[in-house]
Amino acid sequence: MLPQEIVRAKRDRQPLEARDIGDFIAGVMDKSVTKEQIAALAMAVYLNGMSRDEAVALTTAMRDSGTVLDWSDLGPAVVDKHSTGGVGDNVSLILAPIVAACGGYVPMISGRGLGHTGGTLDKFESIPGYNVTPDDEVFRRVVKEVGCAIIGQTGSLAPADKVIYGIRDVTATVESVPLITASILSKKLAAGLKGLVLDVKVGSGAFMADEAAARELATSLVEVANGAGMPTVALLTDMDHPLANAAGNAVEVRSAVNVLRGNGSEPRLREITLALAAEMLAIVGIADSAEEGLRKSQEALSSGAAAERFGQMVSALGGPSDFIEQMDEHLPVAPIVRDLTLENGAEYAGRLSFDTRQLGLAVIELGGGRTRSEDNIDHAVGLSDLASRTWDGSSPLCRIHARDEATFQKAADRVRRAVRQGGGQTPSSVSERITA
Ligand code: URA
Repeated sequence: MLPQEIVRAKRDRQPLEARDIGDFIAGVMDKSVTKEQIAALAMAVYLNGMSRDEAVALTTAMRDSGTVLDWSDLGPAVVDKHSTGGVGDNVSLILAPIVAACGGYVPMISGRGLGHTGGTLDKFESIPGYNVTPDDEVFRRVVKEVGCAIIGQTGSLAPADKVIYGIRDVTATVESVPLITASILSKKLAAGLKGLVLDVKVGSGAFMADEAAARELATSLVEVANGAGMPTVALLTDMDHPLANAAGNAVEVRSAVNVLRGNGSEPRLREITLALAAEMLAIVGIADSAEEGLRKSQEALSSGAAAERFGQMVSALGGPSDFIEQMDEHLPVAPIVRDLTLENGAEYAGRLSFDTRQLGLAVIELGGGRTRSEDNIDHAVGLSDLASRTWDGSSPLCRIHARDEATFQKAADRVRRAVRQGGGQTPSSVSERITA
């Protein structure tokens, strides 16, 4: 079918055949489909949606627009997690080594932060020497020998997504559930995974602030992934408070290494990470159930086996060989590191909540995040020691790591404005589990 006929069919709510969707994506790649036609189809899908069969066809066609990795030499335990993005979300840094220590293989292809949410790659780039773009041979060797490698997106995986996303971004068509689904899953399917676990965030710092919208996206992702042959489950998790007690880059690496080393108390971060690890182990058969997966994951964390894997991964990808033991020697430190207190803190004692998105924006103001994809970032700055929901109202609200006084003050104002009165109850970290 001609591209304009495919657009017309979607405009008029006629079903699209998998063959026609495949032709359209092939045309995106060989440029016989124009940008205008891509924009028009994106808007027609935004307005009229897609059936599950159409979304599966779009996802698999986008997967096949580039290289599909083959890990068949590693057996069935090749598994990953995808998060819809949050603030203080350093789960991947703890999760991948836990799963590796339990016998899984995690080839994790991550992104950079954009907008108020951080990106895993930016966090790793605060580790001196860590190479986020190793060649294919190094990537394969590290996954095989260590069990996990966290690296950056290569242009060869699902290249149609890059073209289509660039057009969606400037035509108000990003917020379409089938288009988001195809975008996320085409890249995960191209990574050659045998199983996937999704962390779909809900709350003020999430891509989907509202629970019904998050559930709709999670259900679409789970059904389409399974329809495309990749066993997948999703957890809906709370993003009405930062997950780690830090937001930024080096500060989040410190938080993750502290959890791996059993230091400090970050109960929500630990709980969500272990719940995701448990699902990952179960979905590829390393554990018979999520309950058994949880036991194995707890053991990998408390025995130090996960910390050891993290250290091996950092070293194998060019970072310091003593990073786990000596991280303070290696991570950058901001010139200003100062506590922030709140004069009327007593009003919030025992029921602190944050507008989490504002905390992410404070990190951008400090220079630790991006407003445009080409921006450079400052890895040393950010927020740490963020108060928990049960804050006493008088101890510091957080510690600000800033490059200079001006950005310190801007971030301090924003963090103060982000403070809310919560309900006094801590919602459960994992609110729902969605399966096909
Ligand atoms: N993340 C993606 O990778 N794609 C989308 O379309 C939205 C979020």
